[in-house]
Amino acid sequence: MTTEPRDWQSEADRLAAATDDPTAWFETLYAAGVAGEVSMPWDRDQPHWALQEWSHGRAAAEGARGLVVGCGLGGDAEHLAALGFATTAFDISETAVATARARHPESSVDYHVADLFALPPEWRQRFDLVVEIFTAQALPRDLRSRATAAIRDLVAPRGQLLAIEAILPADDDGSGPPWPFTRSDIDAFAGDGLSLVSVDELAQPDSFPLWRAELRRT
Ligand SMILES: C[S@@+](CC[C@H](N)C(=O)[O-])C[C@H]1O[C@@H](n2cnc3c(N)ncnc32)[C@H](O)[C@@H]1O
Repeated sequence: MTTEPRDWQSEADRLAAATDDPTAWFETLYAAGVAGEVSMPWDRDQPHWALQEWSHGRAAAEGARGLVVGCGLGGDAEHLAALGFATTAFDISETAVATARARHPESSVDYHVADLFALPPEWRQRFDLVVEIFTAQALPRDLRSRATAAIRDLVAPRGQLLAIEAILPADDDGSGPPWPFTRSDIDAFAGDGLSLVSVDELAQPDSFPLWRAELRRT
């Protein structure tokens, strides 16, 4: 008799509550997913629909570099590579990165295990398009300004940042994960030469509404 893996979301809540280290539980969770103990977390091979919609009809300029923050299993990074970006992607979870590589054996994406808070200095202002989907909201609020500053710092001169996060619901009790964004949280991606181009509020039929912010470095 086979048993169904447990739901990854309740395991994420349990692991996050059981540690004082706000980033350690991601690896434990992905490893449990690979071991079949829980369903695979954030399991999608396709690009997020809000990235796909935004990028429709856009192609990378010759030699343009793309970066995906907290890339998970690689669906968004593969999309950037398909658009023509020389794509780098990183995640703090070794298991997530190994799974992304294994799922995309022919990939041109340069996958790395890396911590948003300790990135290689040569990545500063290096990337023409930085895509951030749900990583900053997976970190507690007291890390938010450090997280947004670290993401912002990756955008090259005249480069773009696309950030997609959940909108904070009125009844959120703040216990997380995740820790969704207010409008002022989203606006705070701007600064240090990065300006807001647009902020969309996106409804999802069967899920929570999203912010989609586009920023550009002048
Ligand atoms: C909510 S998941 C989203 C994954 C993916 N972006 C997606 O949309 O499916 C957050 C991701 O950020 C990664 N992560 C969390 N903290 C990180 C950090 N400090 N540095 C790099 N990656 C991190 C996690 O391992 C996880 O893959």
